[in-house]
Amino acid sequence: MGNKLEHPDVELPPEKLVMVTGGNTGLGYETARSIAEKGARVCIACRSEDKAKDAIERMQKEHKNEVLKSRSVRASGQHSSTAEEAEVKPLNVEYIKLDLSSLQSTMDFIRETKQRMQSLNVLVCNAGIAFVQQGYTEDNYELHFQVNYLSHFLIALHLMPLLRAGAPDSRIVFLSSVAHSSGKLDLDNMQCRKSYSRYGAYASSKAYVVMAACLLARRLKGTGVSTFAVDPGVVNTDIQRNFSDWRLLSFFMGAYSKMGMMRTPKKGAATSVVACIQPSLSGRTAVFMKNCQPANPASFCRDEANQEKLWNYTLGCLSQFINDDALKEAFPFAEPDLLVIPKNTETVEEQIADELGKQEGSPDGKEGCQPRGGEASFASKKEETEPEKEHPSEAAEVASETVQITQEANGYSSGEKMRGDAPEDEEKPTRCEVAGEERSEKEPSSEGAEKTSETIHIMQEGNGDASGVKMQGDAPEDKEKE
Ligand SMILES: NC(=O)c1ccc[n+]([C@@H]2O[C@H](COP(=O)([O-])OP(=O)(O)OC[C@H]3O[C@@H](n4cnc5c(N)ncnc54)[C@H](OP(=O)(O)O)[C@@H]3O)[C@@H](O)[C@H]2O)c1
Repeated sequence: MGNKLEHPDVELPPEKLVMVTGGNTGLGYETARSIAEKGARVCIACRSEDKAKDAIERMQKEHKNEVLKSRSVRASGQHSSTAEEAEVKPLNVEYIKLDLSSLQSTMDFIRETKQRMQSLNVLVCNAGIAFVQQGYTEDNYELHFQVNYLSHFLIALHLMPLLRAGAPDSRIVFLSSVAHSSGKLDLDNMQCRKSYSRYGAYASSKAYVVMAACLLARRLKGTGVSTFAVDPGVVNTDIQRNFSDWRLLSFFMGAYSKMGMMRTPKKGAATSVVACIQPSLSGRTAVFMKNCQPANPASFCRDEANQEKLWNYTLGCLSQFINDDALKEAFPFAEPDLLVIPKNTETVEEQIADELGKQEGSPDGKEGCQPRGGEASFASKKEETEPEKEHPSEAAEVASETVQITQEANGYSSGEKMRGDAPEDEEKPTRCEVAGEERSEKEPSSEGAEKTSETIHIMQEGNGDASGVKMQGDAPEDKEKE
């Protein structure tokens, strides 16, 4: 795409420890590899041990090849000897098993991490799913909610003592998305049992992580641990396997990929890597980042009252896994009123269900916050629900955001300054920053993206769904959200 999405050129000490969830593929893999290549110790947290081992093997091979290639370029094309190959120091990468769709597995992962590590410098909450069909975990939570948000939140809370031990300048980096601005904090439908949209559930989970970065930062004052939420852009990764059954969206994404309009995983990971290790970000917290620099998240995510509602709701969900002592250990300097665990740990939906009697779509009239192993498992829920229809407008919304972000990214291609080149950009704090001011985004421009945008318009009309679809350029409220 020609824009300057570069991984920072810094050397990291071998004792620096970075944990990357979902580090076996896609953005997580590139983030883990890039940071390990700079000298740090990296641990990837993966649900499949085989995939984790394969990924580490691939990282080592790629690293060795790159080092040998750069050496042979320096030695004007001579091939490396076996002795030289043996000299390449392997990357310091390990793995721990983690299945975010199970709170039990998440707690096992936390225990194992605490046994193996005395401190942690960076936690990258990267693993995620996108636009999957409606489904529920063994803990009875909507899949995007638990995998993308809730389990990562639990990890962040329990690993806070390790992060504090790694301070100053320990960081928690949450992977968000441009889609976060289409998310909602709807306390009446947090688990999407009243209504479900694949795009909405994903978007909301990505909004929650932005809000989490802010509400955690408020509680972390004085600890040397800071928080970031990252929009990586639209990146050509395996994430598309999550919605291969959604034909229209898969079609759009396939077309973008073929037109070279999506970022490579390496370029996509650049913003994460900057958030993890860029020295100039030291001391800043609750920062939303895109295109490798601070940016503005959607206004509803910056609203403190919303963030506190999410905190209460989340603690309600995690009441079996978090107690007062754990909170005090996590946030030793936080105001006591910021650490109150809601007395009534029922979720808002449960309260509503209790008030209204049995709720449609919830077999026992309750949602979330139930004992683990609830009956509404992913498999059984799928059997219960009607086969899902495709929603052209949702697919178009995702596609339109792809165009929007591509345009924004291409806007930087004609010599615009990026992080590192532009100290004045770094000077300007973001609206998400706890004590920050606002900063405006750069104007996008890209002929290729405009053409694609037109193509989408035509496709939408062809699908009889031109109305109500937000397209780049004709959705002023979207611009406002940004
Ligand atoms: N690609 C994009 O355009 C894009 C845009 C915005 C935001 N993001 C965000 O960036 C992050 C990384 O996405 P990606 O594009 O790199 O996707 P990806 O290639 O599909 O990688 C996702 C990673 O998450 C792991 N994962 C999924 N479910 C899990 C679970 N239950 N427990 C533990 N790990 C689980 C996957 O493990 P397996 O390999 O075992 O499935 C994989 O390692 C996600 O949070 C995504 O929402 C991506």
